[in-house]
Amino acid sequence: MIEIESLTKRFGDRTVLDDISLSVGSGEILAVVGPSGAGKSTLSRCVSFLERPSSGTVRVDGKDFARLDGAELIAARRDIGVIFQSAPLLRRRTVAQNVALPLEYLRATDASIDRRVGELLDRVGLADRSGYFPAQLSGGQKQRVGIARALALRPSVLLSDEATAGLDPSTTKSILALLSHLRDEFGLSVILITHEMEVVREIADSVARIDGGRIVEHGSVTDIILDPDSALARELLPERPAVTPDGPADIWEVSYASRRVPLDWLTAVHSVPGISGLRVDVLSASVEAIRGVAVGRAVLAISPSAPTGFADHLRDRGLHVRTAQISSRREAA
Ligand SMILES: Nc1ncnc2c1ncn2[C@@H]1O[C@H](COP(=O)(O)OP(=O)(O)OP(=O)(O)O)[C@@H](O)[C@H]1O
Ligand SMILES: [Mg+2]
Repeated sequence: MIEIESLTKRFGDRTVLDDISLSVGSGEILAVVGPSGAGKSTLSRCVSFLERPSSGTVRVDGKDFARLDGAELIAARRDIGVIFQSAPLLRRRTVAQNVALPLEYLRATDASIDRRVGELLDRVGLADRSGYFPAQLSGGQKQRVGIARALALRPSVLLSDEATAGLDPSTTKSILALLSHLRDEFGLSVILITHEMEVVREIADSVARIDGGRIVEHGSVTDIILDPDSALARELLPERPAVTPDGPADIWEVSYASRRVPLDWLTAVHSVPGISGLRVDVLSASVEAIRGVAVGRAVLAISPSAPTGFADHLRDRGLHVRTAQISSRREAA
């Protein structure tokens, strides 16, 4: 369990994190997104206490790290596993020796280290690579070694700072599946810093967007997807019209989000009064499920223009409607 309360971090007179409050329960994955320089890595370093907060508190499993020093702090840090972009592995050590590092610092016995390293490599699917050196591994395999090493001391919290950045989509998927299994198996509280919305869609339970050191949006992924006015929802579900209208047209985005989207959700458009003489082109349409919520969306071009009351009529039917802009081929030329 991670509890962050009114966390503020300043470097000199620059406020890099401003009054951040977030909590991550055990077995929960919180994704933190936001532009470069927003303060994401600083937040992660405050949670692992590589940086001290200027004010506010960070508690991990109820422990307030700011009150700890020396040996106590070092012991408490074992509750936190950290993985980074391109796992920083020691080149001259084998896979097994890299994973063993944190255990050696604890002066564990050789037999118990071997057993634990064996378990961990098995868990991340690298049992057959234990004698390899980092240079002999793929990016995804290196990241798995980093994950095994981060879990060596049985942490309750896992922090991941862009751990899948730079990996190809299928490797990213397999790393995310691994993280998600490990979260379930060990009840980890996970903070996942990422700039990839795919990552949020795949495994996050909740998401916070930070900009300029402040939280600008935060909630469970399902609540955010169900909120038609959420800017984050629009990033999570980018609309990519496949075609552009032939001539002048009114462009509308129509969507429906719920645990279950009725199969006839889009046919409501044809019952709008005054629509019958008009041309309705579907520029894109999809129904997809994200973390248990189905979202049906379509971008429609109504030529030459939508009838009065078009949006209100559909809203009465439970659809979300907004005017949309798409760049037509003609504009692009
Ligand atoms: N030790 C430091 N001293 C001074 N300023 C710092 C320090 N660490 C970070 N900053 C500043 O804090 C701001 C946030 O940095 P941070 O690394 O947290 O951003 P980020 O959201 O992780 O960005 P990115 O997506 O590029 O990794 C930046 O403007 C950075 O220059
Ligand atoms: Mg960063």
